[in-house]
Amino acid sequence: MREYADRILMHTAVRGSQVDRNKTPISPVLGIVIAAGLAYSFATSTRSVLAEAPNESPTKERLIRLEEVHEHNRTADTYWVFRGDSVYDITDWVPNHPGGEVILRAVGGSLEPYWNIFTIHQKQDVYDILEQYFIGKIDPRDLVDGKAPTGQVEDPFKSDPKRDAALIQHSTRPCNSETPESELGSYITPIEKFYVRNHLWVPDVHDADSHRLTVELYDGEEVEYTVADLRKKFKEYSITATLQCSGNRRSHMTQASRPTTGLQWGVGAISTATWTGVRLRDVLADAGLDVQDPDEDIKHLKFVGAEAYGASIPIDKAIDRHGDVLLVYSMNGQPLPRDHGFPLRALVPGHVAARSVKWLNKIVVSDEESSSQWQRRDYKCFGPNVGASHPDWDAAPAIQETPVQSAITAVRQVKADRLKDSGLARVYGLEEDSVVLEGYAFAGGGRHIVRVDISPDRGRTWMQAQLQEDGAKMGASGSPDDHRAWAWRQWRAVVPATQISGKFCVKATDDSYNVQPDTFEPTYNFRGNLANAWHRVLVSRDDKPVEGQLGK
Ligand code: HEM
Ligand SMILES: *[C@@H]1O[C@H](CO)[C@@H](O)[C@H](O)[C@H]1NC(C)=O
Repeated sequence: MREYADRILMHTAVRGSQVDRNKTPISPVLGIVIAAGLAYSFATSTRSVLAEAPNESPTKERLIRLEEVHEHNRTADTYWVFRGDSVYDITDWVPNHPGGEVILRAVGGSLEPYWNIFTIHQKQDVYDILEQYFIGKIDPRDLVDGKAPTGQVEDPFKSDPKRDAALIQHSTRPCNSETPESELGSYITPIEKFYVRNHLWVPDVHDADSHRLTVELYDGEEVEYTVADLRKKFKEYSITATLQCSGNRRSHMTQASRPTTGLQWGVGAISTATWTGVRLRDVLADAGLDVQDPDEDIKHLKFVGAEAYGASIPIDKAIDRHGDVLLVYSMNGQPLPRDHGFPLRALVPGHVAARSVKWLNKIVVSDEESSSQWQRRDYKCFGPNVGASHPDWDAAPAIQETPVQSAITAVRQVKADRLKDSGLARVYGLEEDSVVLEGYAFAGGGRHIVRVDISPDRGRTWMQAQLQEDGAKMGASGSPDDHRAWAWRQWRAVVPATQISGKFCVKATDDSYNVQPDTFEPTYNFRGNLANAWHRVLVSRDDKPVEGQLGK
């Protein structure tokens, strides 16, 4: 019940701050506006608290005709939906919806056909949110067999591609599935095993070459390029880069600390590919942006995807000649697969993957960030004390570069005799039964991993894991910039079985000497973003498998 009341406050607080944001540029009236904003949010919260107990008398429920629900469609000031025979006024929820404006498709009618398609909603915490907006029941005169007619909607996911059965599915509509541990050991992730993080459906583009990218300059002028133009006109670059979802390892934070909202990813919301395309900087220059000395007011570069997703990056990253932001049409030497943005996506190496917008069809040079949900209301971290109840969304910056991360992806018990045979005994000077650990380490912002430390005894004593060769440096990629580390480093450690006591821990250090926090509590944030505390895995001394430990 506390949670319930908290959530209501969250929504009113956010609306209040929106009112402020829209009006603050007129500074003389700032005080009045804030006062008005506060009054507004107070008024809304009073109303919402009333909504908690919407009926003057508990026995007399408000009855609503279907006709009236239909009127509260996207052309109206307030948005209503129904589910079963219950009616909800979701006006205050719409700006907070993690799925963005697509929710408006359902207003004025039934949620059910949409939730049957967008199956990500079929869980209790989503039902709980909805209940807060209850306003009444549908008039029995409009019910058929006790139910309101729900109608049919077209399934926007019906042409989504087939996915590899080995991917670990977290949701199918939209598709969110992680790379299995067994595939995290290869430096370049095989395309079909590359994790998929879709926010909506996969746009169905037939002709790659005629797909158009519109570049909108700061003065509003637009320049168009087809993918064929991009290929023809600009120098081609390839970069080996790791993409990591901001929710990678969220399940670890949830387990070690407290519940977080969002998909409960394990260690596999991260993968690496060699990406080929043209430099965003070159395209912007061609379109007419002065990339050496852009107008001072220009601060951001917005990306818009064909399915309605949007995000932005700082303009400095977009035009940095060493920033390596690409417009990509090929992945591991093959045409970009549909799940990864066919025919064109942005690649913003070193930044959280949410900025590498797929199915790219527009870029906008701007003085402000993308106004999308995914830029302004999500992919942000708040203090551990801030509950889902009242975040001041505008107070936290959008996640761009990511912090240092590492994880254990394989644990093998190796018998001494087998060790000798493999030649590893000589390399590591080990004669005894051992445990071989493998994993990845990755730092954002192009920072290199300088060290990976392993502890076999819960962090009391440490040893250095062996960093595997840097695949990006091996020449295959022809990266335009050798100084930045855009891809992960894999590592291996061999530990004598006798040293093991309790949980193994791993932590990495980057070349700015950033380290991972030892526990999750200090970096807990209710959305579970950037979960990067030491990864701990229970390893037994005997030959027993340690299944189920890695992802958790
Ligand atoms: C009042 C009604 C609704 C509520 C309370 C609601 C709530 C939510 C919540 C809590 C999530 C996040 C789930 C997670 O990350 O695990 C979500 C995601 C999403 N919702 Fe809704 N939703 C509603 C209606 C709709 C409708 C009608 C649509 C489509 C027409 C929709 C489309 C989506 C999509 C596409 C996502 C995924 C966004 C992403 O992954 O970034 N939602 N919704
Ligand atoms: C939306 O509501 C308006 C009245 O508020 C009504 O005139 C219109 O027909 C409605 N549209 C649909 C598609 O129901």
